[in-house]
Formats: sequence, C-alpha cells, structure tokens
Amino acid sequence: MKPITLMRSLFAACLLAASLGWATQAQAEETLFAQIGGEPKLRASVDKLVEIMLVDERINFTFADTDIDKFKSLLYDQLCELTGGPCKYLGRDMIESHKKLNTTNEQFNALAEDLYKAFDEVGVPYRVQNRVMALLAPMQPQVVDKIPAKE
Ligand code: HEM
Repeated sequence: MKPITLMRSLFAACLLAASLGWATQAQAEETLFAQIGGEPKLRASVDKLVEIMLVDERINFTFADTDIDKFKSLLYDQLCELTGGPCKYLGRDMIESHKKLNTTNEQFNALAEDLYKAFDEVGVPYRVQNRVMALLAPMQPQVVDKIPAKE
C-alpha cells in the first residue's frame, strides 16, 4: 500500500472510531429528561396529568384549594430535576406539602395511573415512563405515611 493510501485509511479508521465513541458516549449520557423529550414533552405531560387528575373523582377533591398553575410549575421543576434536566425544584418537601391531606395508598396509585395515561397521550415511551415511576415510587412513604426520606 502506498504511504498516502495508508495515511488515508488510518485517518478514516480514526474518524470512524471517534464517531462510534461519541455515539455510544452520547447514548450513555442521555438523561431521562432527554429521553422523555425534554421541556416540551415534560410540560405537555404535566399539563395532561393535571387535566386528567382534575376529572378523576378518586383524587380531584384534594386539589380543591390548590393554585393549579403554581402546582404545575412546581411539579414540572421537580420532575425535571429528578430526571436529570436543567431545573431546580424550590417547592416544599413531600412531607410538608402533603401533611394536611391524609393521602392514602389508593390515591397514590390513582395519581400514578393518571401519570401513566398522561405520558401515553403525550407519546412518552413506556420504558421511559417506567423509569420515571421508579423515581417517584420511593416518595410514597413521605406522601402517604409521612415518613422522612432516608439520606
Ligand atoms: C410521588 C407522588 C407525588 C409527587 C411527586 C407530588 C408532588 C407534589 C408537588 C411538587 C407539590 C407542590 C409542593 C408545594 O406546593 O411546594 C404537591 C402538592 C400537592 N399534592 Fe402532591 N405529589 C405526589 C402525590 C400526591 C398524591 C397521591 C396526592 C393526592 C391524591 C397529592 C396531592 C397534592 C395536593 C392537593 C397538593 C397541593 C397542596 C397545597 O395546595 O397546599 N399529591 N405535590
């Protein structure tokens, strides 16, 4: 092989290796927030959740005195931060914000079901939905039984 051809082949091989490397690195580093579809899809999911939840008679009465726009904004920030997005949740902790509500396990499950429905309607993949749910499940002791989160 001529030296110039060898150089070209080596260069091409390096480019290929680098781009493969970048691709796998990018995949490995993609946050759950990005897999949801970033801000537009997460905001749409929160809007849809609230729409569904407010007509869900198992839980809608608990939101009777709630400022819904504020709730949406706080829930978005919380989910965004939790899934690795560029946000900071500045709301109250889960015990403080639910302590007057006497939330039950049935209500907790109803809200989870509504969130699955909302994600479905917005087109978030099921595998991604389950990963978000896995992040929310550990909050159940705080929301329902008011048991502090482990550090
Ligand atoms: C993992 C599950 C849950 C998460 C992540 C969650 C998240 C939140 C967030 C971020 C807030 C706003 C906090 C603040 O005002 O500073 C909030 C408030 C509230 N949540 Fe939840 N929540 C969950 C479960 C539930 C359940 C099961 C119910 C009842 C069915 C519920 C009812 C409420 C109500 C009524 C408020 C507003 C309280 C108020 O207006 O003072 N939440 N929640």
